[in-house]
Amino acid sequence: MFIDVVRSRKSCRLFSDVPLEDSEIDTIMEAGLRAPSSRQLKDVKLFPVRDVGLIRRLALCKESSTTPLETATFAVIVAADPDVCDVWIEDASIATIMMQLEAEDLGIGSCWVQVRLRSNGDVPAEDIVKREAGLDRGLKVLSIVAFGRKLR
Ligand SMILES: Cc1cc2nc3c(=O)[nH]c(=O)nc-3n(C[C@H](O)[C@H](O)[C@H](O)COP(=O)(O)O)c2cc1C
Repeated sequence: MFIDVVRSRKSCRLFSDVPLEDSEIDTIMEAGLRAPSSRQLKDVKLFPVRDVGLIRRLALCKESSTTPLETATFAVIVAADPDVCDVWIEDASIATIMMQLEAEDLGIGSCWVQVRLRSNGDVPAEDIVKREAGLDRGLKVLSIVAFGRKLR
């Protein structure tokens, strides 16, 4: 039952090095892409990151609370175009939790890593994320969701 998924989900910050299956990644992405959005404007952009080296570099986008990205084997950068929709934060948040709940249903651990309003020194975390991942500078970045096989 869906409530069992809701009850069992906990943020996971330590993952094994066993990668996710392609089918698992596809299902997590589908859950995010099927998230409802205001006026169905499709302002949210989900960027899957399978390159573990890039995931580790993304962990440096802020000074603390990026532990999940230090062992994650898969991550999704959750971004949005603020020119397309004024409630992009709501839309991006819904997509984030949809992916986390789908991951839990698959027995996969996840953790939301906040990017919006965070920084590393004087540099906004989202600027670091956009530079490392080569994203359009006009996008806003809400979060990076870390995924992997649960170690604890
Ligand atoms: C908006 C938001 C931002 C969060 N940012 C971070 C973060 O930057 N790093 C982190 O390790 N966890 C982060 N979390 C996870 C929370 O710490 C976690 O959900 C909360 O402590 C409740 O624990 P639970 O997810 O196990 O129920 C965030 C969660 C939310 C909803």
